[in-house]
Amino acid sequence: MAGGPWGRPFRLGVPIGAIMGRYFGKGSDRNRFIALLVEPRLQSARGEGKTMDEQRRPEDRADTKENSGARAARLRQRFPTIEDLRRRARLRVPRFGFDFVDGGANDEVCIARNTAAFRAVELLPRYCIDGKGISTEVALFGRRYAAPIGIAPMGSPGLMWPGCEEYLAREAQRARIPYVLATPANASIERIAEIAPDVFWFQLYRFPANDHAITFDLVRRADAAGAHVLVPTVDSAGKSKRPRDIRNGVAVPFPINPWTVFQVATSPFWALSFLRHGMPRTENLVPYAGPNPTQLSTARTMQLRSGGSHSWDELARLRERWKRAFVIKGILHPKDAERAVAIGADGIIVSNHGGRHFDGAPASIDVLPAIVAAVGTRATVMIDSGIRGGLAHVIDLFFDEIRTEFLHVGMRSVAEAATITARHPGAWRFAEAQEPGNRINPQRV
Ligand SMILES: Cc1cc2nc3c(=O)[nH]c(=O)nc-3n(C[C@H](O)[C@H](O)[C@H](O)COP(=O)(O)O)c2cc1C
Repeated sequence: MAGGPWGRPFRLGVPIGAIMGRYFGKGSDRNRFIALLVEPRLQSARGEGKTMDEQRRPEDRADTKENSGARAARLRQRFPTIEDLRRRARLRVPRFGFDFVDGGANDEVCIARNTAAFRAVELLPRYCIDGKGISTEVALFGRRYAAPIGIAPMGSPGLMWPGCEEYLAREAQRARIPYVLATPANASIERIAEIAPDVFWFQLYRFPANDHAITFDLVRRADAAGAHVLVPTVDSAGKSKRPRDIRNGVAVPFPINPWTVFQVATSPFWALSFLRHGMPRTENLVPYAGPNPTQLSTARTMQLRSGGSHSWDELARLRERWKRAFVIKGILHPKDAERAVAIGADGIIVSNHGGRHFDGAPASIDVLPAIVAAVGTRATVMIDSGIRGGLAHVIDLFFDEIRTEFLHVGMRSVAEAATITARHPGAWRFAEAQEPGNRINPQRV
């Protein structure tokens, strides 16, 4: 975050923390980026969690401290990296669910770019510093969180693992990190507010009909439920094409055919969770989907009535209506970041939507420095895209990683992020790119 309530930058990927103009990561493994957004991919790599009790081994069910300690140790051994979890997810989740979360737009070039960009960043170690008393805590929009990471919004997560939002929200509440519920989630605003009252943020898509009646009603509900932050997403300008979803037949209505039935039948833990939670609906749309809302009618309401990028005027109206923190997600250009600040945003999330919408977009980490420089201390800057994470074990991995990174770069708190020395060869410089007509940025260094 650049300044804002903290006076320094922070990146959230959902967050995650960038850290004042000084963002950092580690080149050796794409999962290791310090203040990252614990993003939602891979969340069902293991079937554990309070809403998935039946997925656990019987010996794990008694949730004693001892058991959960042993479970955590076992998970650390079995899945030391996010890539281990990803491989596991591929085995456990039906192909259509795995690809829905893992895939991106067109040729998935942007996904590869996100990964490569993080890997290219180097952090210069500083040693001989007393490592006692390291704190990963961060203050964000007037609240304290345990670390500069959070869980990004994800629509239709029931495809990946039925019921997973409740699980993620519980883990976020336990770990004290932000949980951002997506508009097209399969759990409602009201339910998540109950589960994660201290860390609940709400992501907002655009429903233009009737002077944005649905949009404003969602805002009203998020306010009534006590969401701490409203997060309108602006990078869904047009329909995206995701070839993996097309090949797998992911559509509304969801196709029941021999291929999808085979995938479910060969994913027994997923199937059990599905039986337990039922056909996932787009819960937030239930009040707007007519009488007897079903999976199909709520999904269709989302599909037919939402769309487009919130205009600056619409964002300004939303800003005026929403009294708590307001964070715009999907910003990639410093000029747009400045505009967001000008309409009163408290923060922005630098994001290319994980390469799911526009394959030509730059890696968000590569535009982060210029955006942090443009925003200065006027708003909090967070980042996502290319950061891997998701469940309790993943949150623990990130916490471990953050502490280790702090020790290597000589930081004892997020407040000291600006003292870090980093090399970032892929960072965009915008001086010339901002000139009208300059379509190719020769300043890429
Ligand atoms: C399956 C899936 C669904 C998503 N749905 C939403 C959504 O409804 N709203 C939103 O703002 N972002 C959505 N995102 C984007 C994430 O919030 C985040 O920006 C992105 O996943 C970050 O990139 P990464 O996955 O490489 O970390 C979704 C991402 C995934 C993987």
